[in-house]
Amino acid sequence: MHVFGLTGGIASGKSTVSRMLRELGARVLDADVLAREVVEPGTPGLQRIDERFPGVVGPDGRLDRVKLGAHIFADPAERAALNAIVHPEVRALFLQKLQALEAEGVTHAVYDVPLLIETGLHQVMEGVAVVWVPREVQKARLMARDGLDAAQAEARLQAQMALDDKRAHATWVIDNSGAPEATRPQVEAVWRAMLAQG
Ligand SMILES: Nc1ncnc2c1ncn2[C@@H]1O[C@H](COP(=O)(O)OP(=O)(O)O)[C@@H](O)[C@H]1O
Ligand SMILES: [Mg+2]
Repeated sequence: MHVFGLTGGIASGKSTVSRMLRELGARVLDADVLAREVVEPGTPGLQRIDERFPGVVGPDGRLDRVKLGAHIFADPAERAALNAIVHPEVRALFLQKLQALEAEGVTHAVYDVPLLIETGLHQVMEGVAVVWVPREVQKARLMARDGLDAAQAEARLQAQMALDDKRAHATWVIDNSGAPEATRPQVEAVWRAMLAQG
């Protein structure tokens, strides 16, 4: 199985590119989706969170993200404790999903991970596509999509690794600053390059 990373920054166009890749027939695993799946009601992941952070599982058996957020907000040690539970579960589920794809005969897969480079996971990928836009475009799209003012958008960008720094780790840079019609051929070229590998 050949596995490639897809990443970018907030509102750089990861979801947009991921959709284009799927339209081309790529199988894309989404780290955010896996992270939600491992804390579904009845999972060992949610049980361990319930033990470590009492009161965050509601009467309906679902994770109360607002309560959990209050526990870990501004407390790095608590956040690390949560990650120590969630990350191994996500990793195990990722490997399980890869095996299922392999059993289907899939030979090339893409893993969409917002924090791919920050977590060092890019180092074990066969190649990394970074969805890049200039910072001003990123800020404008973030404001428009999430209804933020300039200061709120700026704060979110400040809290992240800059796209210009992520670019340095890219095998392929997808420049999403133009219209989607300008992005699509780049995505096609990257998918072809991925398929050509291995
Ligand atoms: N090439 C583009 N041209 C114009 N708007 C775009 C383009 N790509 C993405 N967008 C818009 O910008 C916002 C962020 O894109 P999205 O794919 O959601 O980013 P991410 O998943 O990286 O946060 C969305 O509102 C999306 O519709
Ligand atoms: Mg997205």
